[in-house]
Amino acid sequence: MPGDTAPTIRVRPLGEADRPWANALLIERWGSTRMVTRGIAHDLTQLPGLVAWYGDERAGLLLYRTAGAEWEIVSLDSLPEGQGVGTALLTAIRQLAQEHGCRRLWLITTNDNVFALRFYQKRGFHLVAVYPDAVTEARRLKPEIPLTGLDGIPLRDELELEAVL
Ligand SMILES: CC(C)(COP(=O)(O)OP(=O)(O)OC[C@H]1O[C@@H](n2cnc3c(N)ncnc32)[C@H](O)[C@@H]1OP(=O)(O)O)[C@@H](O)C(=O)NCCC(=O)NCCS
Repeated sequence: MPGDTAPTIRVRPLGEADRPWANALLIERWGSTRMVTRGIAHDLTQLPGLVAWYGDERAGLLLYRTAGAEWEIVSLDSLPEGQGVGTALLTAIRQLAQEHGCRRLWLITTNDNVFALRFYQKRGFHLVAVYPDAVTEARRLKPEIPLTGLDGIPLRDELELEAVL
C-alpha cells in the first residue's frame, strides 16, 4: 500500500522453538523432513539452520550440513518469494561459513527447478556437475519424490552448484 514500509528481514540461527514451524514447512514444501542429495538421506529435523524473519513473522528457512571446509546447503525455502528473503539467507550462510573457515559452499537442486538455477547463478554460484537420473536413484530412498516436478518437467537429474569462498 502507498506509504507502507516493507518490514526489515532479519536472519537468526534456527533454535529449538523454531523446529515445529520448520518441520511443518518442510513437509508442506518437500513432502517430508527427509531430503536426499548425492545418494544420502538427510534427516532435516537434526540439521543446523537459519531462519529469516520478515517483521515478526518467520519467512524463510535454510538448513545446512558442515563437513570440514565444505558446507552443503541442504534446503532453502522462502515465503513469501521475491521479497529478498532467499537472498538474505544466502548472504547470511556465506558469511557464517566464511567465519568458520569454510572454503566451499555447495548445494544440489534438480533439473526442473529453473528458477533456483537462475537464483543461485545470479548470486555467485557456478554449475559444477550434472548427475543424470540421480533423482530416480534418490526415489529409492525417498519414494514420495514426485515423478513430475515444477512446470510439468520430468524430475530426473541432480545439479550441483558451488561457491568458492
Ligand atoms: C529459490 C527461493 C529460495 C528464492 O528465494 P526468494 O526469497 O524468492 O529470493 P529473493 O526474493 O531474494 O530473490 C528472488 C528475486 O526476487 C527479487 N527481489 C528481491 N527483493 C525483492 C523485493 N523486495 N521486491 C520484489 N522482488 C525482489 C530479486 O531481485 C530476485 O530476482 P533476480 O534473481 O532477478 O535478482 C524461493 O523461490 C523458494 O523458496 N523456492 C521454492 C523452494 C526452492 O526451490 N528452493 C531451492 C531449491 S535448492
